[in-house]
Order: sequence, then structure tokens, then C-alpha cells
Amino acid sequence: MAQKSRILIIGGTGYIGKFVVEASAKAGHPTFALVRESTLSDLVKGKLVDNFKSLGVTLLHGDLYDHGSLVKAIQQVDVVISTVGRLHFRDQVKIIAAIKEAGNVKRFFPSEFGNDVDRVHAVGPAKTAFATKAEIRRKIEAEAIPYTYVTSNLFAGYFLPTLAQPGARAPPRDKVFIFGDGNAKAIFNKEEDIGTYTIRAVDDPRTVNKVLYLRTPKNIYSLNELVALWEKKIGKTLEKIYVSEEKILKDMEESDFPVNAILSINHSVFVKGDETNFEIEESFGVEASELYPDVNYTTVDEYLDPFVGDSIEGVFPPPLFGYCNNQP
Ligand SMILES: NC(=O)c1ccc[n+]([C@@H]2O[C@H](COP(=O)([O-])OP(=O)(O)OC[C@H]3O[C@@H](n4cnc5c(N)ncnc54)[C@H](OP(=O)(O)O)[C@@H]3O)[C@@H](O)[C@H]2O)c1
Repeated sequence: MAQKSRILIIGGTGYIGKFVVEASAKAGHPTFALVRESTLSDLVKGKLVDNFKSLGVTLLHGDLYDHGSLVKAIQQVDVVISTVGRLHFRDQVKIIAAIKEAGNVKRFFPSEFGNDVDRVHAVGPAKTAFATKAEIRRKIEAEAIPYTYVTSNLFAGYFLPTLAQPGARAPPRDKVFIFGDGNAKAIFNKEEDIGTYTIRAVDDPRTVNKVLYLRTPKNIYSLNELVALWEKKIGKTLEKIYVSEEKILKDMEESDFPVNAILSINHSVFVKGDETNFEIEESFGVEASELYPDVNYTTVDEYLDPFVGDSIEGVFPPPLFGYCNNQP
């Protein structure tokens, strides 16, 4: 059997990065995480790093803004996965430059993990962020670096614990806001599964120079369908407040970050249907659950069960004016 590629994750101590690091180590890939010195002394991140060590992950000290450290780290691996956050999307050109100098990388996964940025109809902050990710795609292609772009769609932990209610701290139990007519289909994937599928793609020739879509069939729901599922689980009908596209756009214009960013993503996903409004064509994409049918991904139905009781807290965005009806 061919040896498993050595994988470097840049941004491994971030929200999605930690799931990618864990999936890589657990799948038996020699796994390396580029970590800034300052992060090691952080109480929470220090614990995360200790967990990486216990999984056999090799820590490499470095920084996106220290070219030498990037080249040195990249020279030790076959595949580079970036999971840097929005402030650093553009500066992934520094990773591209280091990959070119190192000259040994078989595949680069830039920080994507959301919508397919070449097939979106976003406005506002989401449009800007998607455009920056698309620019990075074009640079990778211009440099002829083999790539995979992971279109993971929505992180379950960000959206399901509140049924996509911006600013909520718990799932709705009386009334629920629905964006647009509630019929656009979105896709929700659990973070562990995103890590698993990403790592599966690393040594798979079918994913070279392709978009890897996590269009997991059991996780495709419109907001109307999601609310109906939730109502069935809690045995109660909720009051539904439909928020028009015009109102979402007006609120977005009148608000600051992060409210405007959240509204613009919700607009792209739940009003425009940007996660499902196109066909995946062989020329540019592959679908993860078709490529890896043995991955037993968590379904939305299963994910919501623990939230039926009162006790579980998800990953909640900051409070949002207007839409929030169940702040503590
Ligand atoms: N689909 C969805 O629902 C969804 C939701 C959220 C995010 N995303 C996407 O997921 C991707 C990752 O976002 P995230 O929120 O997981 O990121 P994040 O939590 O902000 O993590 C960023 C990572 O980058 C590292 N980093 C920051 N500055 C660095 C530097 N100078 N040198 C090296 N590393 C540096 C951070 O290290 P430290 O730990 O040292 O700070 C951290 O590990 C993005 O593409 C984002 O758009 C998708």
C-alpha cells in the first residue's frame, strides 16, 4: 500500500483546523501543525496543542508572516492544508510563495470550508470574503499547484443548535425567524465529518484539481424543512416570522460586523440557495459522500436530538439585534 502523505495544517488551532488536525492524525497520516509560539502560552489553545501532542502530531513553530518558517515547515511534508481565518485569506499568497519555493508539495487545500466561492450570489461582507477566496484559487491555478477546494457548506455547530437564528443561545421553542420564503436548500455538516472527508481527499487522485463538495444527501434541508423537523422533535408548532430579502439586505446595510457578515451569509445560503442551486459537473467537482460511501456521517436529524432537552449549548454567534428571541 502506498504510504500516507505527510500533512501540514496551517491554522490547526482554529475552529475548523482542530478537526482537520485530529482527522489527519487519526487516519494515520504523519501530521504536522504550524503553531505560533505565542499560542502555546494561551490557556485554551495550550490544551488543544497538548491534545495534538497526545495524538502524535508534530508541532512546528512558525508564522504566516515568517517566510523562512513556512518554507522549512512545508519542506517536511507532501500536502498543505490551510484553515486560516478571514483576516488572513488574502495573505495565503504567502503560503503559495512558500510552496513554490519549497517545490515538493503534491497538493494544497486553501482555506475554503464554506460555499463554492465561484458559484455564489452573495452581497455585502460575504461577497468580499468569497471574492478573496476566489482570488486565492486563481493564484493557485496560475502557479500550477495541484489543489483541492473543500466546499463543506455550513458548519453544523454554527447553525444547527439555533436553527440558524442569528444571535440566539438555544434552539427556538416559541417563534422562529425564516429567511426569505424558507424554501432554498442549505447543507449542514458536522465538523468532525468535514475533517474526515477533507483528509480522505488528500491521497485520492479523483480529487486533484477539483472542488470537493460535501453535499451529504441526508443533510440537505430548507429552513422550512428544518423547522418542521424540529417541531416534530419537540412536539410543538412554532410561530413563523418570514423575513423578506429586502429586510435582510436593509438590516445588513445598517449593521456593523459581525451582524452584517452573518446576515450576508444567511442571505447567500437561505435566500439565494447558493449551496444547492447548481449541478456538480465532472469537469470541476466531485461529491464527498459518493466518493467515500463508507463514511458514516452524522445526519441533521441525529445532530438535533441532544438539543431537544434544555441542557446542551452549541457554538453560538454573538447576539444579533432584531432576530433574536431567546437570549438568556
Ligand atoms: N461553513 C461555515 O459554516 C464556516 C463557519 C466559520 C468559518 N468557516 C471557514 O473556515 C475557515 C477557517 O475559519 P475558522 O473560523 O476556523 O478560523 P479561526 O478559528 O479564526 O482560526 C484561524 C487559525 O489561523 C491561525 N493563525 C492566525 N494568524 C496566524 C499567523 N500569523 N500565522 C499562522 N497561523 C495563524 C490561528 O492561530 P492561533 O490559534 O494562534 O490564533 C488559528 O489556528 C475559513 O475559510 C472560514 O471562512 C466556515
